[in-house]
Amino acid sequence: MSTIAIVGTQWGDEGKGKIVDILSEKADYIVRFQGGNNAGHTVVIDGTKYILHLLPSGILHDEKKCVLGNGMVIDLEGLLNEIEFIKKIGMSIEGRIFVSERAHLILPYHKELDAASEKLKGNGSIGTTLKGIGPAYRDKAGRIGIRIADLRDEETFKEKLKWNIREKELILKHVYNYDMSFDFDEVYSHTMRVYEKISPFVADTVSLLNQAIDTGKKVLFEGAQATLLDIDVGTYPYVTSSNSSALGITTGTGISPKKIEKIYGIAKAYTTRVGGGPFPTELKDNVGELLRARGHEYGSTTGRPRRCGWLDLFALKFSKMVNDLDGLIITKLDVLDAFDEIKVCVGYELNGEIIDYFPSTAKELSEVKPVYETLPGWKSKTTHIKRFEDLPKETQNFLKFIEDYLEVEIPVVSTGPQRDETIPRHEIW
Ligand code: IMP
Repeated sequence: MSTIAIVGTQWGDEGKGKIVDILSEKADYIVRFQGGNNAGHTVVIDGTKYILHLLPSGILHDEKKCVLGNGMVIDLEGLLNEIEFIKKIGMSIEGRIFVSERAHLILPYHKELDAASEKLKGNGSIGTTLKGIGPAYRDKAGRIGIRIADLRDEETFKEKLKWNIREKELILKHVYNYDMSFDFDEVYSHTMRVYEKISPFVADTVSLLNQAIDTGKKVLFEGAQATLLDIDVGTYPYVTSSNSSALGITTGTGISPKKIEKIYGIAKAYTTRVGGGPFPTELKDNVGELLRARGHEYGSTTGRPRRCGWLDLFALKFSKMVNDLDGLIITKLDVLDAFDEIKVCVGYELNGEIIDYFPSTAKELSEVKPVYETLPGWKSKTTHIKRFEDLPKETQNFLKFIEDYLEVEIPVVSTGPQRDETIPRHEIW
């Protein structure tokens, strides 16, 4: 196998960082294909916690090559800080980081627009990370975005930046009633100063990755956010602004769909969501609080408490279909160790009727009532168990229930943040 992808199947924060870190061991290239520093991928190595926002989680393995694909939106300063951090912890960066020249930049006005738009929406706000993601993708789709390649030519960058600053000031003033100006010289010179340090890493990643795959190199695609936050198939409008399911891999890297061999999803043993939007299995009671406390469910990018609820298999069925998953990796199983009984959502009821589709509108999704199946808990520690067969019978049944319902194999189970708190069942590659 030469290419595999890892994607979130819920609303993000499924623990992709840890799984990608483990799978990176066998990869030559680890590739991010969408999003920006709205992502927070946590990896724990020998008790030390690393949080990555832009660099693929594979960066924590010396030797591995990491690619930031053309589908990303990049805050250059954030990227520089992460590169400096990797150097500081004594890891090499030489010849290991490739940033797509086609990726779009996040500039200061994107963050201001993000905040202004959220403020204007009031109660209907999306609860974005305020990193400027939506406005940067808006510029990309509007064909006025500034790409990394534009920085190579000072005149092109100057011209585009001038135009964009003027446009953004007008929008901020006349749409959002913000009297805000951006100092062209300051934004220009600051961006160029940071770019000079990033420029050695800038590359034609489309050709690089195609050649890598064509010559048999192992490439691991690392999704950020997740399927239900995907701009097209997610719970729109409460989504991020990129294709954060497997659907985004090809456009975000320039790789043909014919070249993606296997796609694995990641799901927590329960569900969380940060920010606004419908969440059918959300628990606003003690059970939800216990999930939050045991799972340390606070955002790694924003620190916000995450909303928590039971595992939603009906939503996962939709994610499985969209990504055509080859397997589903279950993480944070240990968080359920303390519960007498565990509920899983196996269907939705809408206006008194059971429905057989995952709603496409936020309104409908917010009105569904989850139909639960109750499974017995196991009330014992699973964290140090190394083999599936050694898990309590109830835990095995819980995992088998997921497999049977979704008709997908669970190749790996994670029972804690450390690399070795993992139960491998089937080879991934
Ligand atoms: P944005 O991506 O900052 O525009 O935020 C849009 C929505 O996606 C908000 O509900 C965010 O909380 C959510 N979101 C963005 N990135 C992540 C992530 O890495 N994990 C979980 N939720 C995220």
